[in-house]
Parts: sequence; structure tokens; C-alpha cells
Amino acid sequence: MVGWFAFPWFVKALESDPELTRELFGDTFHWGLTTSAFQSEGAWNIDGKGESIWDRFSHNPSKIKDHSNADVACDFYHLYNQDLSLVQALNFKDFRFSIAWSRVVPGGIGTVNQKGIDFYNKVIDTCLSLGIKPWATLYHWDLPQALEDKGGWTNRDILSWFAEYTDLCTRKFGDRVNDWIVINEPAAVTMLGHLTGLHAPGHRGINKFMASVHHTTLCQGVGGRIIRSNIPQAHIGTALSCSYVEPYKKKPSHEKAAKRIDVLLNRLFIEPVLGMGYPVNDLPFLRKLEKFYQPGDEDKLKFDFDFIGLQNYFRVVGRPGIIPFIWASQKKPDKKTAELTELGWEVWPQGIYKSIMQFSKYPIKEIIITENGAAYPDELTADTVHDAKRVAYFKEYLKYVLQAKKEGANVTGYFAWTLVDNFEWSFGYGPRFGIVYNDFNTQRRIVKDSGLWFKEFLK
Ligand code: FCB
Repeated sequence: MVGWFAFPWFVKALESDPELTRELFGDTFHWGLTTSAFQSEGAWNIDGKGESIWDRFSHNPSKIKDHSNADVACDFYHLYNQDLSLVQALNFKDFRFSIAWSRVVPGGIGTVNQKGIDFYNKVIDTCLSLGIKPWATLYHWDLPQALEDKGGWTNRDILSWFAEYTDLCTRKFGDRVNDWIVINEPAAVTMLGHLTGLHAPGHRGINKFMASVHHTTLCQGVGGRIIRSNIPQAHIGTALSCSYVEPYKKKPSHEKAAKRIDVLLNRLFIEPVLGMGYPVNDLPFLRKLEKFYQPGDEDKLKFDFDFIGLQNYFRVVGRPGIIPFIWASQKKPDKKTAELTELGWEVWPQGIYKSIMQFSKYPIKEIIITENGAAYPDELTADTVHDAKRVAYFKEYLKYVLQAKKEGANVTGYFAWTLVDNFEWSFGYGPRFGIVYNDFNTQRRIVKDSGLWFKEFLK
């Protein structure tokens, strides 16, 4: 058998690098893997699960690049035991998963599906029996279709729907789950789902976008308050995407354009939570949000999170442009000089450092990197996957996380995206982000070199 250890470059990768050891991050640092329900569970209509907006969206093949869907995905619904054993075998102590709202409450509100509750009980209990801490995300994009039919994120009633759902999850699982993430990337929910239509539910329009922005932001607070009241000692966060924005040229017009992009990508969902209101002065079209305001909303937007999850993949270079309202555009990375992942995302590890430092200027108690990772075209040969580029990606990004920590940023954890290759939203099964390879025909898992690298690093 040809083992990964037979490859000189990998032996080199395993040589300990004195600049990057687990010890340098401290004893209490959380090392985890992040997954999400829709991308990994499959079992889309099994045991009473209701339809979600992503089931509906992906059942229209024209919406997904490879015309696939996530009906089976990685079949985590049946294979959770084996996958959680892998988390343990790779020496991770923290596992972040999301609860599929439509699995526990098929219609979004009302009747509870006990089989759905049973499934998450099994996931949680298995984690605990393996010495892994379960971190639950309440909302990772898969709204019950029944609620979308009533307007979904554009209907203010979602505040009470989300409250009912959060109350249920915290009452059922709060005796064993202490770490909670309210919403995964409100920027993606709103911009991709309600403005560009690239994600479910596929809406395009400024009005729907504005309504969804205000309601997801309010729900961060709604969720946070319910978790706090049902589980007083809980460790509560929300997970925000961030991309460091740089002007293309050192010219005032470029700097102003970059600043407007920065508002949308990095400031929109954190500033209201901190009591600063929406950053309308730097992006005046956000005044359209006022239409959705009700008395008392300023206070409802605020919540004292224990941590903010940052999810970082790439930076953005901005310049003046014709995108309506922000009058800016993104300068695509130069293919000849930039290093790109399979999705064309630029590998720019200093970006994670810059984002952490940018968020550290806010009064945030703790920053946790709740997602970071890369898709590369992996090749399975003789039961090995030599994903040297992914190993290098993780090492470089981690070095910059460490630098931010050394410079005083209170970064307390790092979660890699992701455990097993899964369904990458509108791209389908093409881009592989796992540190474990999945053969989607057989559901066989093969640990990649990046998984082995983490195993060694975390031992
Ligand atoms: C993030 C999503 C996650 C995954 C990665 C690649 O924006 O939260 O589900 O798709 O990107």
C-alpha cells in the first residue's frame, strides 16, 4: 500500500514548524470543524422532515451548476456516528453543526417532529461520548418552505417564528449544548438569497433585500435573548462573513468605493448589534431600511454576544463602478499573479489577520474563526488525497490568526470548513472543501493529507 507517509513533501509538511504549533495558541483555544445541515445531512424528506427553501431551490436543476441536489449529500443523517468518530480521530475537540429547522418543525411553526429532535439528540450525545463539544448553529440558510410561503425573511412575523424555534431548540438541547451560534452569515442570507437571487429563495430586489436585512439583524438579538434566558450560562455568538476590503488604487475615488463595499461586507450586521445603528452615513442607500423600522427596534437590534464568529475566505479589492447604490465594483484578482482556489477565491492569508484586527476595534468580547478553508480539485489515488495546497492554505491562514492573537486580538478559537466534502450550495458537488474526501457514489470517506496534517498538529 502506498501510504501518505511515502511522499517526501508530506513528510516535510509534518515536520514541526516552530512558528506554528498548537501550544502557541494556548491551552484553552477551541479547535473545531464546521458543517451545516443542508450541505451534509441528506435525508431531505425522511422521518417527517419538512421541505426547506434549499430543497425547493435545488430541485430546480438550473439553479445548481452541476444540476445536482442535496437529497443525499454526505448522508450525515445516517453516517453521523462514523463522521463524528473521524472528528475525534483527527484530534478536534469541537464540532459545529447546524439544526435543520424543517427537520424539527416541518411547518416552521407549530407541530414538532420528535424524530428530528431524536436525530439531534443522537448527534449531541455521540459528540459528548467521544469527548467532543457540540456547537449548534440555529440557522444555516435552510428556512422551512412553509415559512417562505408566508414571506420568509421579508415578513416581520419571522421574529416570532424564530423565537418559537429558538425556544424549542434551547429547551430540548440546552442541557447538553452550551455553545450557540444564532445565524450563519446574514450577509449571504440577504445578499445572495434576496438581492442577487443566486441562493434560495432566489429573490432579486432592493425591497426584499432591505426587509430581510432588518429582520435577520433583529433575529440575531431575538435568538440571543432567548438562548440567554433558557440557558443562563450559555456561550452565545453569531457568525459573520468578513472580507478585508482594499482600494484598487490609492486614489480618493477608489478609497471611497472600497469604503462603501466595506459597509456592506463587514459593517452592516455587526454595528447595529453593538448599538451603533446601521452604518447609513457611509452608505446612504441603507436609509431605505427605515421603512421596516418599528418603535423600539434600536434596542431590539442590540445584543451582548459572548463572541462573534468570523468566517473568512478571501479579500476584496474595490474600485468605482456601476453597481447601483454602492457605485463600486470588485476588481477580480489577476490570474497570472494571484493564487486562486478552485472557486477563483484569492488565497490571501494576511486578509484573515486584517479582518481580525478590524473587528478587534469594536467592543467585542471574543472573536472565534468559525469558518475558513479552501476548495481544490482533489484527486483520489490509492486511497490517498495529496492536497498539498490545502495544507499550505491552512498553515498560512493559521500563522496570520496567530499573529493577530500575538498582537492582542482576543481570538479564542478556529474552526476549519469543513469535515467531509459536501454540497457547496449553488455550485453543487464540484468544489471540495473537506479535510476528508467523500466518494459521493459510495459515501466512502478518505482522510486527505490536510486531515492528517491537522491530526498531527493537534495531537
Ligand atoms: C460559507 C458558508 C458555508 C460554505 C463555505 C464555503 O460562506 O457559510 O456553508 O459554503 O462558505
